[in-house]
Amino acid sequence: MKMLDKELATELLHKNMQNMNLRRHCYAVGKVLRALRSYYVSQGVGVGSLSGEEWEIIGILHDSDWELTNNTPEKHTLMLLDWLKEYEVPEELLDVFRSHNTKVTKLRDPQTLLEWTLECADELTGFIVAVALIRPSKKLSDVDVASVLKKFKQKEFARAVHREQIIQCVEKLNIPVEKFVEITLLAMQEESDLLGL
Ligand SMILES: [Fe+2]
Ligand SMILES: [Fe+2]
Repeated sequence: MKMLDKELATELLHKNMQNMNLRRHCYAVGKVLRALRSYYVSQGVGVGSLSGEEWEIIGILHDSDWELTNNTPEKHTLMLLDWLKEYEVPEELLDVFRSHNTKVTKLRDPQTLLEWTLECADELTGFIVAVALIRPSKKLSDVDVASVLKKFKQKEFARAVHREQIIQCVEKLNIPVEKFVEITLLAMQEESDLLGL
């Protein structure tokens, strides 16, 4: 069996997801997870046994079956877990996907730092994209932490984004909301070409 690396994960994403904006969401979450892992390491926080590349792979793949399951949301992550049977993948990594759509699949409640990081970052990346898109330039480089926090308080802005999922960063990740926004925004700005924003 082949070891799942970033190249194979990206191939799997591209094979199963054609919508460019959806792909970019997956890339963004991957970059942000990797950046947050580096932040935890710099703070002396234990990150478990998975590498930076594996954290990024989780972002790349977490919604990779979404285009094929959006009419059958109960299959989201189950389809992905099925695909991954063909690869050698650490159990700790599979657990993250089991915890991702768990409100529907009931496979596993998020519990590790990585699983909670995905939970919080997933929503925040989408929110930051929404803030960038109302800038005249539509560029991430024209977004700053203060503007994200300001929009965050406006309930009518990007209503679909679950604020309460993001602010769990305080309790579950031990990161204040402002710092969480700062790290996430910076990681996205560094990948503006990849994200097309
Ligand atoms: Fe998802
Ligand atoms: Fe997502």
